[in-house]
Amino acid sequence: MSAPIARPEVLSLRRSEIRILANAGMGRSDVLPFWFGESDLPTPMFIREAAAEAALAGKTFYTHNLGRSDLRAALSVYLTGLHGRPIGSERIAVTNSGVSALMIAAQAVISPGDRVVAVAPVWPNVVEIPRVLSAKVETVALEPAQGRWTLDLDRLMDALTPETKALFLNSPNNPTGWTLPAEDRAPILERCRRYGIWVISDDVYERLSFLGEHAPSLLEVADEDDRLISTNSFSKAWRMTGWRMGWLTLPPALVEPVGVLLEYNTSCAPDFIQSGAVAALEHGEAEIQALRSELLTQRDQVLEGLGRMGGVEAPSPDGGMYVFFRILGLGDSLAAAKDLIERAGLGLAPGSAFGPEGMGWLRWCFAARPEKNAEGLERLSRYLKG
Ligand SMILES: Cc1ncc(COP(=O)(O)O)c(C=O)c1O
Repeated sequence: MSAPIARPEVLSLRRSEIRILANAGMGRSDVLPFWFGESDLPTPMFIREAAAEAALAGKTFYTHNLGRSDLRAALSVYLTGLHGRPIGSERIAVTNSGVSALMIAAQAVISPGDRVVAVAPVWPNVVEIPRVLSAKVETVALEPAQGRWTLDLDRLMDALTPETKALFLNSPNNPTGWTLPAEDRAPILERCRRYGIWVISDDVYERLSFLGEHAPSLLEVADEDDRLISTNSFSKAWRMTGWRMGWLTLPPALVEPVGVLLEYNTSCAPDFIQSGAVAALEHGEAEIQALRSELLTQRDQVLEGLGRMGGVEAPSPDGGMYVFFRILGLGDSLAAAKDLIERAGLGLAPGSAFGPEGMGWLRWCFAARPEKNAEGLERLSRYLKG
């Protein structure tokens, strides 16, 4: 009998290089970590209190597959206000995290052997999730030009063929901060309509935009019956990474089948956690504004610091919480990131964790106190001076 091993598609999934690196440096008091994508502040207190009160009041039971109706209604109000277009609660499905939203979106529309296209470098889950479902993933690379990350729209158009099943977009993008320009939305949508391509848009950083209140969204140009799925999360805008709460905005015809998929994935989101999410939506706007302005200050701090060091290329991110930069002469990202841990006590994510397009680059999560960013910059500067 053959050995009891997992499916070949599962065995060939990439291991997270961020984890490899973090596991090597975690728990070391001499290492200053900037490797994960989260703020070093906990969730705002009023959200924690709402969930705690709900738990104490006994909200500890199963809920509806698609999420509690008050949470879906609050999401509808929030999204309608944000995007200036009616987005009804009947189009929303609550998920147990943004990554789960992405997995369920992929399970809903992708079959084994499908060809999907992703804009990269990108957070690894975006390309590995279709691979879990035995799809073939091709990437279109973002490129640095004039101090920003850019997407060559013609190259993306060429990659979107009648054989393409889905396009995965993440804007603002992790790790580069690239943000889909408003004027690129209509041509992308038009091409996807023509060939019946699904767009799965990972919008978890949409509120962390440095161009305005929110990043340009495909929800603003698409009709509700377009093949568009927006995946989103409470993790980033409301600093709720540990809560594992997200949602999907779906075309109406997909809601019922997604409810069935939710049953077989997690059945439903936890009841009292959904109470925290309702509080976040109803009272969280001031916190988001404050977070956005802090991130802008922190981004500028890190960009300026890197800019002062010779031999560093650091395109400016238009959103998100990361600077994706490279040190001229440092080739292998993982080796460089390990060396930075050993010799500088600095924990950065290796760019190759985000696909071969990121090789040679490093990611700095600047959602940290200014003193911590300053100390990190000081360590990098000393390291570069040798
Ligand atoms: C692009 C992107 N999408 C989704 C997520 C996942 O969010 P969640 O914590 O809700 O699973 C992340 C987390 O880093 C991310 O960077």
